[in-house]
Amino acid sequence: MATTISNDQVLLTIPMRPDMELAAAQLASVIAESMSFSEEQIEEIQVALIESCINAFEHSQSPDRQVIIKYIMRTDGLEFEISDQGVGFSPENRTQRRTSKPDLHPEMRKRGWGLEIIHALMDSVDIMSGENGTTISMVKSKTV
Ligand SMILES: Nc1ncnc2c1ncn2[C@@H]1O[C@H](COP(=O)(O)OP(=O)(O)OP(=O)(O)O)[C@@H](O)[C@H]1O
Ligand SMILES: [Mg+2]
Repeated sequence: MATTISNDQVLLTIPMRPDMELAAAQLASVIAESMSFSEEQIEEIQVALIESCINAFEHSQSPDRQVIIKYIMRTDGLEFEISDQGVGFSPENRTQRRTSKPDLHPEMRKRGWGLEIIHALMDSVDIMSGENGTTISMVKSKTV
């Protein structure tokens, strides 16, 4: 459910269920449109948000099976904080893990792109992860 925190902040909680990431993307689209982001930028925001929600669904092992998304409307852009209360991970080990197994099953090689895509589409990405869960914070800047 969406809650308004203040004039420029909205909080959305979604259950970790198939397609619920689309609710997060839809709200992002409405907010981004109201901030006059371009169609292309809105699509990029939606893809980044969907990837981060699906990561929480698939990898967090969060016992409460919820993802909380905070939308922050800044003067310089739109910021998102996607949080789960799962097991966390070490973002630094990611590339290492992937390249250290050159003979992965072909199906496996298709995986491991979500965070790369998020970094490519957003202007800044910050991952805080630990035993209490993961928060990924990302900003799409407003180009003037
Ligand atoms: N919210 C999270 N909680 C725990 N681990 C995570 C979380 N997000 C990412 N990870 C870890 O980081 C890895 C890389 O994530 P990434 O999205 O890049 O790839 P993927 O989800 O494995 O595959 P793809 O996104 O291409 O389908 C994951 O495999 C997982 O180990
Ligand atoms: Mg992923």
